[in-house]
Amino acid sequence: MSKSDYKHKMQEKYRILHQFIDLYEFIFTFNKERNPRRALAGRIPENNMRILDVCFGTGNGSIPFWDTSNIIVGVDLSFDMLAVSKKKILRQRRRNVFIHQMDAANMGFHDEQFDIVMVAFGLHDMEYDLMLRALKEMQRVLRKGGRLYILDYEEEGTLLKRLIFSLYLRISYPQHVQEFLKYDWSQILESVGFRFDSAESYTVSKLISATK
Ligand SMILES: C[S@@+](CC[C@H](N)C(=O)[O-])C[C@H]1O[C@@H](n2cnc3c(N)ncnc32)[C@H](O)[C@@H]1O
Repeated sequence: MSKSDYKHKMQEKYRILHQFIDLYEFIFTFNKERNPRRALAGRIPENNMRILDVCFGTGNGSIPFWDTSNIIVGVDLSFDMLAVSKKKILRQRRRNVFIHQMDAANMGFHDEQFDIVMVAFGLHDMEYDLMLRALKEMQRVLRKGGRLYILDYEEEGTLLKRLIFSLYLRISYPQHVQEFLKYDWSQILESVGFRFDSAESYTVSKLISATK
C-alpha cells in the first residue's frame, strides 16, 4: 500500500470511530490490576521528562500522566482523532501537552529529542514494513538510554475470552492483525536498535518495554 493510500485509509477509518472510540475504554475498567493504561502510567517517572506519545489518538495512552511535570508531545495522522484530543487539552487547560498531525514513519523531530517514547494501540494499524519504519523513527528520536513502551493487543485469558476477542479482531481488522499477534518482539526491537527488556500481559493487551 502506498504512503498516501495508507494516510487516506487512516483518515477514513477514524472519521466515524473518533466519535465513540473512548467508549472502548470501559473494557479496561473491570480489573484494576490488569488495566494496561494504569500499568504504563506506573512506569512513567514524574521528573520533567520529554515524552513522545506516537499514534496519540484521543490521548488515552498518556492521559493518566498528563497531570505531571512531564512534557508530552503527541503525534497522529487522523485530524478527527486529534480534534477530540485538542478539546480534552483545552478543557483541562494543559500547558504541558502538545499535539501534531504527523506520520509515525516520518516525524519532524531532532535525533534523541525525547526521554521516553510510547505507542499505545497504534502499531497494529500498520502492516509490517510500515511498522518497522515507524519503530526506526522512534529509535532515532529517543535519547540513548531512553525507554520505549509499546502497548498493544494480545490474546489472553480463558478460552471463551480468547474466542470473543479473536472474533472481534477478525470482524473489525484486516488480515495482518492476525500476524501482528504472533510477532517476535524481542527480534523486531533488536533489529531496529533497541534492547528488549520485558513483555507483560494485561487485559487483551501486552506492555512491552525496551531501551535504546
Ligand atoms: C486505536 S488508536 C489508539 C489511540 C491511543 N494511542 C490510545 O491508546 O487510545 C490508533 C491511532 O493510531 C493512529 N495512526 C495509525 N497509523 C499512524 C501513523 N503511521 N502515524 C501516526 N498515527 C497513526 C490512528 O490515526 C489512530 O488515531
